[in-house]
Amino acid sequence: MTQASIEKTTLETLIRQAGEIALSYFNDLKNINVDKKSPRDFVTAADIAVENFLKEKLGELYPDYGFWGEENGQSANQNTRWIVDPIDGTHSFSRGQYYWSISVALEINSDIVFGVVYAPALNDYYCALKGQGAWRNDKVIHVSSLDNLDEAMIGTGFACLRSYLENNNLARFCRIAQATTGQRRLGSAAMDICLVADGQLDAFWEQELNLYDVAAGALIAKESGATVTDFKGIAGIFPKQILVTNGKILNQLLPLM
Ligand code: IPD
Ligand code: CA
Ligand code: CA
Repeated sequence: MTQASIEKTTLETLIRQAGEIALSYFNDLKNINVDKKSPRDFVTAADIAVENFLKEKLGELYPDYGFWGEENGQSANQNTRWIVDPIDGTHSFSRGQYYWSISVALEINSDIVFGVVYAPALNDYYCALKGQGAWRNDKVIHVSSLDNLDEAMIGTGFACLRSYLENNNLARFCRIAQATTGQRRLGSAAMDICLVADGQLDAFWEQELNLYDVAAGALIAKESGATVTDFKGIAGIFPKQILVTNGKILNQLLPLM
């Protein structure tokens, strides 16, 4: 597989079809089941339907590739695999809020080479190919130029609270909230990372995510000029400790992480 052979247009058509499936449930919420995988972790029939659709269709287009979906787990061939979060922001989805997304990444030998984060209810389609840039609805995107943390707008999430972790994000959030102008907890980590890529947020961080939450967004962010590190500033995709910034405020943020 070369990056050129990734059928970007074909994949967009497929992922937008998955968005139509998600919207069919979203527009009929009173009739869909919301189950719990754990006390604070929800899954709906839409999550399952979207993941099954993408697994089937990607399997037809790329029969030799593996598939790792949040709801179905991992299939064979984990060297070249699709990494899919069928609905990122299920809790928001289940309450009729518009901020949720479908995240699809292609990983080859542990390297993310293609990523899409699509928000069907907002009609925002973020895409990146490794080394070829990042787009939102076909417009090239770039991180913000803000270089003063005190004026920054930052995003975060609380997966740690969902997991009842002692080592949670609350003290860190209070330190950073006092050092910035705006704070947002929007409800879809995949989308939050894309907002940094698109210059709408200056940084995002969260603990205890999974690779399927961040894989696509991290490539989109890197291709837009963002830094993607752990909380110590070490470059890489570390879902359990991910920090995405516009680069200009990274060194101001690290002492507060
Ligand atoms: C969740 C969202 C949320 C984040 C949670 C994730 P899900 O994904 O990304 O913003 O804070 O930790 O689990 O469970 O809706 O796919
Ligand atoms: Ca998720
Ligand atoms: Ca999910």
